Amino acid sequence: MKGMRILSGIQPSGALHLGNYFGMMRPAIELQDRGEAYYFIANYHSMTSLFDAKERRKNTLDVALDFLACGLDPKKSVFFRQSDVPEVTELAWILTTLTPMGMLERATSYKDKIARGIAPNHGIFAYPVLMAADILIYDSNVVPVGKDQKQHVEMTRDIAAKFNEQYGQTFVIPEPQIREDTALVPGTDGQKMSKSYGNTIEIFGEEKAIRKKIMGLVMDSRTPAEPKPDAEKNLAIQLLKLVAPAEVAKGFEDRLRAGGLGYGDLKKALFEHYWNYFAAARARRAELAGNLEHVNTVLAEGAARACALAQKVLKRAKEASGLD
Ligand code: ADP
Ligand code: TRP
Repeated sequence: MKGMRILSGIQPSGALHLGNYFGMMRPAIELQDRGEAYYFIANYHSMTSLFDAKERRKNTLDVALDFLACGLDPKKSVFFRQSDVPEVTELAWILTTLTPMGMLERATSYKDKIARGIAPNHGIFAYPVLMAADILIYDSNVVPVGKDQKQHVEMTRDIAAKFNEQYGQTFVIPEPQIREDTALVPGTDGQKMSKSYGNTIEIFGEEKAIRKKIMGLVMDSRTPAEPKPDAEKNLAIQLLKLVAPAEVAKGFEDRLRAGGLGYGDLKKALFEHYWNYFAAARARRAELAGNLEHVNTVLAEGAARACALAQKVLKRAKEASGLD
């Protein structure tokens, strides 16, 4: 659809991993050719859980390098840091006044954080409102995200509809876009891969460390010879399907099902395919890391374009709500 605006963000809260790549980055990169894409590094959001300035600065640069190396093309997409468009925090305040407490209390990501014993700050609670502002301030039509962010996009829709009802048609109602095949990438322990669970396989991890992680994937105690009728549920097979050609992954799955394939050999194959899958991106990343001036220029130009649009939409919202 021509003229479609696509938007997504990713927090600089740690090294990016296969869950981030297959759940959000790859779909976002593929969408660059389908409309006008806005992608940003959610450094304001990272403040709710990361309290080290140096680390945030480093992670922000790493996310920029990772995303550009993986194929985000600044000639096609607008790529910027969230905090370079401070207008978004002003819109967040406006939206917060129309956000019911109950809606935020029901947010699963908030409830998960509380359940994990994190002492909640107001930012963690208000997180979805800032995310709504991120989406609405660019008149976004489509938001490619992993499954865990779907509820946040639904809240954005509700908040936008409420504003439109209260103050007149102002915001575009966005649609989440979730790829079912990679909606939830499992981590090394079989749970959702996540920076906060310590179960990640990084996109640009160090060779030895990743080999160790992959060889350490926990398998069951069945002998290699035993047939495994549940081969499709095997963690290494699930990951192999992401990084190997379909027929190769299918071949391994069939061999595992029939019996005779040892878990060690399967994991070795997984490592090789993982390593090859990102080989070209790894080379591009090294090149970019040697040209930080270029990376900073990309982010500065992205910020200027994002600001121009954000100011226009914020003005519309302020006029509609009597703040002009
Ligand atoms: P993390 O859980 O590691 O902190 P984020 O919350 O920063 O990751 O997620 C950034 C993007 O990557 C989001 O769109 C999210 O849905 C996606 N994502 C993260 N982990 C996974 C996963 N295991 N499977 C699929 N998508 C994921
Ligand atoms: N909350 C998202 C995450 O943790 C990051 C994010 C912030 C985002 N603002 C956004 C994603 C707007 C999509 C659209 O993954």
